[in-house]
Amino acid sequence: MAVFVQEQGIAPELEIDALDAQCLHAVAYKIYNRQDTPVATGRLLPADADGCSRIGRMAVDHALRGRNYGRLVLDALLRAARARGDRSVLLHAQCSAEGFYRRAGFVPEGERFDEVDIPHIAMRLRW
Ligand SMILES: CC(C)(COP(=O)(O)OP(=O)(O)OC[C@H]1O[C@@H](n2cnc3c(N)ncnc32)[C@H](O)[C@@H]1OP(=O)(O)O)[C@@H](O)C(=O)NCCC(=O)NCCS
Repeated sequence: MAVFVQEQGIAPELEIDALDAQCLHAVAYKIYNRQDTPVATGRLLPADADGCSRIGRMAVDHALRGRNYGRLVLDALLRAARARGDRSVLLHAQCSAEGFYRRAGFVPEGERFDEVDIPHIAMRLRW
């Protein structure tokens, strides 16, 4: 909500969907004033019949970007996908984050497109 709704202006009803209940969620916490505070998150959807799963809702607290929290969350989701036998992971990257996913090995697929009025590109990681 802080990143996609408040910061990026996406409608909350588009952010919260029924898939949340079926996803594996990774959350990174930082300790502030002796309290665990969530600072980064992402979700892994169930795989389809071809063993392709999807990652989405990758978000890091604005003040803590560039400190590896995003990569920590992404790697945790990728480990979980591999461990359960998924064969590849697809995601719709905001174009501004393409380089982040490239560094993790994702490769762009197809043309850029708009999703919730934000430019995106499909990216896939196979192993
Ligand atoms: C995209 C996002 C999740 C990245 O998380 P982060 O914690 O800032 O990234 P990290 O610090 O883990 O970066 C890991 C690597 O990716 C690089 N990187 C991070 N963001 C990048 C970007 N937007 N473009 C290019 N490279 C990027 C880092 O430089 C780092 O590279 P290195 O390993 O060579 O040092 C975060 O910036 C974010 O929440 N953005 C707003 C929401 C968003 O766009 N989510 C993605 C929706 S698809």
